[in-house]
Amino acid sequence: MQTDFLVIGSGIAGLTYALKVANQFPDKKVTVITKTNTAEETNTKYAQGGVAGVWNEAKDSFEKHIEDTLIAGDGLCNKNVVEIVVKEGPDRIKEIIEYGTRFDKDEKGAYALGKEGGHSEFRILHHKDVTGNEIERALLQTVAKTKNISIIHHCFVLDIITQHHLGFLVTKSTLNITCYGVYVLNLNTNEVEKITSNITLLATGGCGQTYRATTNPKIATGDGIAMVYRAKGRIENMEFIQFHPTALYEPGVSPSFLITEAVRGDGGILRNKHGEAFMEKYDSRKDLAPRDIVARAIDSEMKRTGTEYVYLDCRHFEKEKFIHHFPNIYEKCLSIGIDVIQHLIPVAPAAHYSCGGIKTDENACTSIQNLYACGECASTGLHGANRLASNSLLEAMVFAHRAFLHVSNHYQTLQKNIDNITIPDWNTKGTTEPKEMILITQSFKELQQIMSDYVGIVRTNVRLARAMKRLDLLFEETEQLYRSTKVSPQLCELRNLITTGYLIVKAAEFRKESRGLHFNTDYPNKSSLLQNIVL
Ligand code: FAD
Ligand code: SIN
Repeated sequence: MQTDFLVIGSGIAGLTYALKVANQFPDKKVTVITKTNTAEETNTKYAQGGVAGVWNEAKDSFEKHIEDTLIAGDGLCNKNVVEIVVKEGPDRIKEIIEYGTRFDKDEKGAYALGKEGGHSEFRILHHKDVTGNEIERALLQTVAKTKNISIIHHCFVLDIITQHHLGFLVTKSTLNITCYGVYVLNLNTNEVEKITSNITLLATGGCGQTYRATTNPKIATGDGIAMVYRAKGRIENMEFIQFHPTALYEPGVSPSFLITEAVRGDGGILRNKHGEAFMEKYDSRKDLAPRDIVARAIDSEMKRTGTEYVYLDCRHFEKEKFIHHFPNIYEKCLSIGIDVIQHLIPVAPAAHYSCGGIKTDENACTSIQNLYACGECASTGLHGANRLASNSLLEAMVFAHRAFLHVSNHYQTLQKNIDNITIPDWNTKGTTEPKEMILITQSFKELQQIMSDYVGIVRTNVRLARAMKRLDLLFEETEQLYRSTKVSPQLCELRNLITTGYLIVKAAEFRKESRGLHFNTDYPNKSSLLQNIVL
């Protein structure tokens, strides 16, 4: 199959870009691929707190939002990119409102703005505590009305096609590595097919599933990041995995249900097992300090008191108000016997967001030609060493727009890419049906265990070395399986997660300091060398 615009991923990043190119080029074909059988099953759908943006100019300003983002990023944000996202953000928010997103309003009809950790002002637009679901709904409904976009469900992208597949040697130092499209496993036919395109955008989301406790749904297996790394593209800042401080503590349940930071924004208080409000010991901003600080404080309290969770106290909230803003959380807690107005909510940190990813420039271009990336899979320079809450949806929209502008301005040049190129079929020689799928499941659990035990919130050199040794073994075993069996999503996701695990550990080993989300007790201080780790 050939398509004019190929988009991998149906979350906020992929759909925003798809709508823009489809409208600009109404006679061209836009194809969106998603690995699940429903397009809405994305990280986007689960976003709770909302979208940050300067909306109330009487109280807030671009300068304040920029400053908050830079402070959270702990010295590693690209200031220019921060300015771009903050200043262009409100226009992108207006666009999703035009697509039909209904953000909550107050009794006077103005948008009701929430607050989250690290924000100096109220600037989070939200739809109850299910903002992502509302945005995804609006985007998918708009896509459904757009004739030249087709969404192909249940289609697992295996790899991006480059010169490597044409028989050329491609290394990290090869200039002009170029993307010609992707190989996909069509899960309806179980056949591997190729989809070629002059212009491909990766919007494959994050890699939270690298860890056992994560707020991310099953789809978040870092596929795009791993594909680009295999294709010898550049990956950046993978050591900065953000742990959300307050995932509901529910042993055995995966993914973990999130208790949005907006609850603390409205006054929720963290308490340890003795009932003490402990955040003031750690930071003057208390419960609304940036996430890296709050997650580390919780980790420290859990270790000190020998518990697997702390508590979030909402007992002082007015019931009606809580239910009005957080109906989903109220219902979820009630379903497991917790009435948040009477009981404390047990919470623990969980892997939530990948601040690093595929290195991109200000136009969402990757280091591979004709390949763009945006959304959580990309590393744009916005987040630095720690993302400010609710900046992710904003970043995804801003860079989807910038990718669209770049594609529109360079359309003619990008066109020549796949002319006269014959792409070989996927090679299945020597592979047989997998005999024991259980081996994949076990390795999957092992990977999550290794990463959670050794590469979590607090790291040491010994732990990182241990993790790397164990990952090496998993890598060897999985590669052998990959060479000898027919591909399946389970096997490919495992392979991709081992790659993201490796990238996280490798980058963590390179960073000989503690900064933002990366804390290594062997290097507890910041070094003066401000640099990103590019692999
Ligand atoms: P996603 O929405 O994750 O979409 C990824 C898409 O790629 C999916 O369609 C998937 O099927 C597809 N895909 C992946 N791999 C393949 C493959 N191999 N083949 C085919 N398709 C593939 N951020 C905020 O700013 N505000 C919030 O309030 C907020 N709350 C959050 C709450 C939760 C519980 C979580 C998990 C995250 C939250 N975030 C929030 C983060 C934010 O939701 C994500 O970073 C963002 O939605 C990512 O969007 P995306 O378009 O990049 O990727
Ligand atoms: C939350 O609602 O707490 C999550 C917000 C985010 O990840 O930005």
